[in-house]
Amino acid sequence: MKQSMEQDAPIGVFDSGLGGLTVMREIMRQLPEEHLLYFGDTARVPYGSKSKRTVCRYSRQIVRFLQSRHVKAIVIACNTASALAFDEIRDEIDIPIIGVVEPGAMMAADTTKTNNIGVIGTESTVKSGIYDKFLHRINPDITVVSKACPLFVPLVEEGLWEDRVTEDIAGRYLHELKEYEIDALVLGCTHYPLLRRIIGREMGEQVKLVNPAYETAKSLKVLLTEHDLLHPSGIDDKGPTYDYYVSDGVEKFISFAGDVLSCHVGKAEVVNIESY
Ligand code: DGL
Repeated sequence: MKQSMEQDAPIGVFDSGLGGLTVMREIMRQLPEEHLLYFGDTARVPYGSKSKRTVCRYSRQIVRFLQSRHVKAIVIACNTASALAFDEIRDEIDIPIIGVVEPGAMMAADTTKTNNIGVIGTESTVKSGIYDKFLHRINPDITVVSKACPLFVPLVEEGLWEDRVTEDIAGRYLHELKEYEIDALVLGCTHYPLLRRIIGREMGEQVKLVNPAYETAKSLKVLLTEHDLLHPSGIDDKGPTYDYYVSDGVEKFISFAGDVLSCHVGKAEVVNIESY
């Protein structure tokens, strides 16, 4: 089988910062042939407390940057940007694009047995009601209880994944969710899978944690196949390339990315994203 130039192009993956690496990790696992280009908006994180207008502006700039790198498809590896900017951006570009919210909702609906689902995310994601919308579309009988956990993002970015401080904050945020007999909890921010152990301990084993990254990578494969853009397997013995771009803080990014992806991340480049 021959591969086309389009099939050989990279997939652009972006987030407000480092959390989208949890989605990148899953894409690497499920689509090991694909070249990936990651952009983390480390100068402007967090997005979770910003308005729709600002998040749309930032997301547009990133999409323009990714398109200047000739990506064949885009993954919005950020729940906040998926919640606030996905519809606008999808209507403006002519390459396939996928966010994390719809796949996450599908996975949560598949996971629950009681139809009581919890969602944790940034303030903007929770306020947007996007998970409720998708979950009710899938099954109107589902009850959703949501909680914004704004301190989780800085705790993750500080590397406090297994720390007493994070445990205390998790206790405060999550105790009220326990009153609602949920049996599935959506980790509705791409930073949160890195706090999975603490969140899991706090919620107890009867609550299944749903990481939308898994279903996002699966849906991405379907989308690429539909557009005849999937990189054919076994054709390229050089293997995939992974390129990293950030808007600030290269050194911190490199060390963090190495930890999340469990591999050596040699370099990342700084992009002046405001110029796009
Ligand atoms: N990782 C982003 C998300 O999934 C949010 C972090 C932020 O507030 O920028 O929502």
